Amino acid sequence: MLSKSAFVQTARLMCQGLQQRTTTTLHSKASPAVMPEIQSEIPECDYQPQPYTGPSYEKILEIRQKHITPNIVPHFKKPLLIHNGHMQWLFDHEGRRYLDMFGGIVTVSVGHCHPKVNRALEQQINTLWHTTNIYFHPKIHEYAERLAAKMPGELKAVCFVNSGSEANDLAMLMARMHTGNQDIITFRNAYHGMSPYTMGLTALSTWRFPLPGVNNGIQHVMNPDPYLGLWGGAACRDSPIQTDRKCDCTPETGCLAGARYYEQLEEVFKYSLPRGRVAGMFAESIQGVGGTVQYPKGYIKKAAELVRANGGVFIADEVQTGFGRTGDHFWGFESHDFIPDIVTMAKGIGNGFPLAAVVTTPKIAASLGQALHFNTYGGNPMASAVGLAVLDVIEEEKLQKNSLAVGTYFLKCLAELRERFEIIGDVRGKGLMIGVELVSDRATRAPLSAPHVLEIWETCKDMGVLFGRGGLNGNVFRIKPPMCITNTDVKFAVDTLANAITEVSNKKL
Ligand SMILES: Cc1ncc(COP(=O)(O)O)c(C=O)c1O
Repeated sequence: MLSKSAFVQTARLMCQGLQQRTTTTLHSKASPAVMPEIQSEIPECDYQPQPYTGPSYEKILEIRQKHITPNIVPHFKKPLLIHNGHMQWLFDHEGRRYLDMFGGIVTVSVGHCHPKVNRALEQQINTLWHTTNIYFHPKIHEYAERLAAKMPGELKAVCFVNSGSEANDLAMLMARMHTGNQDIITFRNAYHGMSPYTMGLTALSTWRFPLPGVNNGIQHVMNPDPYLGLWGGAACRDSPIQTDRKCDCTPETGCLAGARYYEQLEEVFKYSLPRGRVAGMFAESIQGVGGTVQYPKGYIKKAAELVRANGGVFIADEVQTGFGRTGDHFWGFESHDFIPDIVTMAKGIGNGFPLAAVVTTPKIAASLGQALHFNTYGGNPMASAVGLAVLDVIEEEKLQKNSLAVGTYFLKCLAELRERFEIIGDVRGKGLMIGVELVSDRATRAPLSAPHVLEIWETCKDMGVLFGRGGLNGNVFRIKPPMCITNTDVKFAVDTLANAITEVSNKKL
């Protein structure tokens, strides 16, 4: 493992001779080198990882080639072999420490191997693993009551499953059974899962297999994206940071971009839906895989009214945005100022344990009584014990408040980077749900070339910070860390990103 000073030294060496860029573009000719900024030191961590004793890196590569299906695509040219985690930190097989800014894809909500969650799981493992819900066991009941208490309005009926895709499958089934309608609306650029049912909801071509029937009854509507979409202005988003697009909106007119996108939605009701009837509409409260895209303020509330007026229900996909991540609310939909009819949740709910849920009104839940519906593992004792402990930790450690404070600081630091680096086209998000879009041209918002994006991303990793990526072109850095990170971590991550951009800017790729 690199010592702290060696790590800082390495980071400095990587920057030596590189120009600190201000307004030049990535493709401009290199100017004379100036002293780079100093990489801030990797923050302290008093945890010592276990020594790695597993198969060699080469053996892992061999097993992967022989026995792991090709859909499992690792990140990075030289993929990491991670064997230990502690809170916001990950350790590779050589003992090197990384600041995890992606949390296992927005899943590790309260911290890797959080001691309280570990203890709860250990206690449950020693008590009862599994019965399936053919018998009563206490944990699912305790947990359902606690989770329901977090939900507003009539959202009090909970059905536990094991993954986000399963939760969205079930929500689709409920919407169709409850309303008697078939059609479901989602946004282009949405990600709602990979099961054959939810693959139809997902509207990113990169994530779709050419299967007949996947799109049966699904309408993908125009994404109300204030940065990349047809319309968008300087005050559309519910975020401390806005796009650099101009707009003519005034307090009297409200958000004009939102109104234009809403008209597009109305067109779909007018032209595409059978007699304008709909079973439901899904929306992530902030799009995750699509690159942390936020909708114009007020759009979702109006869309939900339109859906309900035409027979449907509104489903909030909180798989990434739930459990305090967006900071000012526990659920992302609360920022849209409405109560959905069905809420789906996964990922952060279990801090990495396979656990997911659908929460709806008793009336909509009754639709599941029309036939037998069963899920072997859903809400099993171990998952329920973990879910309860995660809720405890979020409350005890005030992680929602931390997401707001640290996330806002993060966003502001990143907005400063946007002033310095032309290739940062947009910074957006709320709390610890952040996106940084890299572009080759600020005016056209064209994506930065893939080799440059990948090189910056990999360089950050080599300097000790793991970011995620998203967006259709993979050019949005996704920052969704465990919610326990600190401002010191943020400073390190932002300095690292700046240094990586500086380094890559002067490389010919
Ligand atoms: C918003 C959203 N919904 C649903 C899913 C599907 O979840 P899972 O991979 O657990 O099936 C994902 C996964 O990334 C997601 O981001």
